[in-house]
Amino acid sequence: MAIICRNTIEAINHLAFRLDLGPDDVVVTTVVEHHANLLPWRRYAKVRYVECNPEGTFEPDAVAGALRGNPHPKLFAVTGASNVSGWLPPVGGLIQLSHEAGVPVLVDAAHLAPHRPLLAAADYLAWSGHKMYAPFGAAPLVGPRRTFAMGDPFLAAAGRSTWCRSTRCSGTLPQSARRPDRPTSSERWPSAPLPVPSQPSGGRRSAHNEHLASRLRSGLGAIEGSRVLGPGPLVPTLPVASFVVEDVHHALVAARPAAEWGISVRHGRMLLRPPLPASLARD
Ligand SMILES: Cc1ncc(COP(=O)(O)O)c(C=O)c1O
Repeated sequence: MAIICRNTIEAINHLAFRLDLGPDDVVVTTVVEHHANLLPWRRYAKVRYVECNPEGTFEPDAVAGALRGNPHPKLFAVTGASNVSGWLPPVGGLIQLSHEAGVPVLVDAAHLAPHRPLLAAADYLAWSGHKMYAPFGAAPLVGPRRTFAMGDPFLAAAGRSTWCRSTRCSGTLPQSARRPDRPTSSERWPSAPLPVPSQPSGGRRSAHNEHLASRLRSGLGAIEGSRVLGPGPLVPTLPVASFVVEDVHHALVAARPAAEWGISVRHGRMLLRPPLPASLARD
């Protein structure tokens, strides 16, 4: 079943709400994730992190260790591709590991979906149509129907509950009438989710991506003073790279390629331990 959300952030928040997690439940995730796949879990449960090495990658053994820990995790939430380094975790094998440990898996496919086939073995998948040429506001959250069949509506308002009194809404409806996550009229399925036919497809597209990624990394690495982050040159990645230029302000590093070459660069400064609002600060 697919619930069409506005974006991956909303899709993962939606799932975190729907899984009915409590403060003592554990979700295993990794330090490689986008905030979309961290903060919703921190809001509802305890998060057990799989740490990464200095290249921003992690080993399946570390995942296996986290999955075996106590308390037994309710979910393993992992990215299909890092939005920072382009690294592609071995998600197929990780899903298998997780299932062997009896833990369902969410794959955050926001960054993976435009480049690689989705993983049917995942229990839950979330991705954004707008990252693959669909209109904004069309992000599927895919999972088994039973997850979405019961419980409070994610959005409480008219059209979401068929029965409402001044003190209670829909909670005591007969099961047949509970439809907590039915779509609204503004929800649109990505109408053209895959790249246009003139682009190379399948394996050729992956190979082309890897070629671009290696050009990007080697080019950036050859610039004096720049240091490319992420896995080494032998590890295939998506064509995205992060880099630092020591002793030069990041805004200037980004401004020059933009002003002089028309290249768009996203820049910023990472705070390793930013202050978080209390509702998100739980470990
Ligand atoms: C890996 C990953 N997950 C989640 C997101 C959030 O996606 P959205 O902005 O569509 O909610 C992004 C956005 O770049 C991402 O790269």
